[in-house]
Amino acid sequence: MQKNIGSVNGLYPMPVTIVGTQVDGRVNWINIAHVGIVAGDMMLSMGKRHHSNIGIRKNKTLSINLLDASMMIEADYVGLVSGNSTDKSEVFDYYKGQLEGAPLIKNAPLVMECEVIDVYETDLHEHFIVRSLNTYVEEDCLDTDGNIDFLKVNPLLFEMSKRRYLSLGDEVGMCWHEGKKMMQETSLR
Ligand SMILES: Cc1cc2nc3c(=O)[nH]c(=O)nc-3n(C[C@H](O)[C@H](O)[C@H](O)COP(=O)(O)O)c2cc1C
Repeated sequence: MQKNIGSVNGLYPMPVTIVGTQVDGRVNWINIAHVGIVAGDMMLSMGKRHHSNIGIRKNKTLSINLLDASMMIEADYVGLVSGNSTDKSEVFDYYKGQLEGAPLIKNAPLVMECEVIDVYETDLHEHFIVRSLNTYVEEDCLDTDGNIDFLKVNPLLFEMSKRRYLSLGDEVGMCWHEGKKMMQETSLR
């Protein structure tokens, strides 16, 4: 039996992203887990009052960094304290790619330097629609065809209701393939 638990957002887990920005010349990191994919580009739902937003509005650039559980403590820390009052620039070792204002985390399995292509504003949030111009992946997280193997990236995941971090499970099937078994069955009917 299913039970109605009310108006609860059940769309979890989400990948934890660490968004890198530059605000007034200083690198800043923020933990953003309310993310999405919009027509192939990415969306970050960010409270307007965050320090990071100042840099994003000005530069129109940012980085999105996926971390695995080995960097969970640092990931959580940058989601607990604000660049308004704390210098978080040294929390991660980083390097500069091709874009200004989009610092990239060294040793992270997957990092993207992104440009902001649109902003959807609501009362308390800015939803930045961003496009990756360059995506850098640790070589051991690529398969033999050069594609990203997310089981190897093993990104940290976020779940709201229990306020906890999760990691990936196993592959259970192939997309656009498993359903074909049912197509064969229905075509016989
Ligand atoms: C696990 C986790 C997920 C978070 N997800 C979001 C989010 O999706 N959107 C948001 O606006 N803030 C989110 N936050 C809160 C910000 O990371 C936090 O307020 C941060 O300190 C703001 O940093 P800044 O002021 O230096 O930009 C999250 C925090 C944690 C710990």
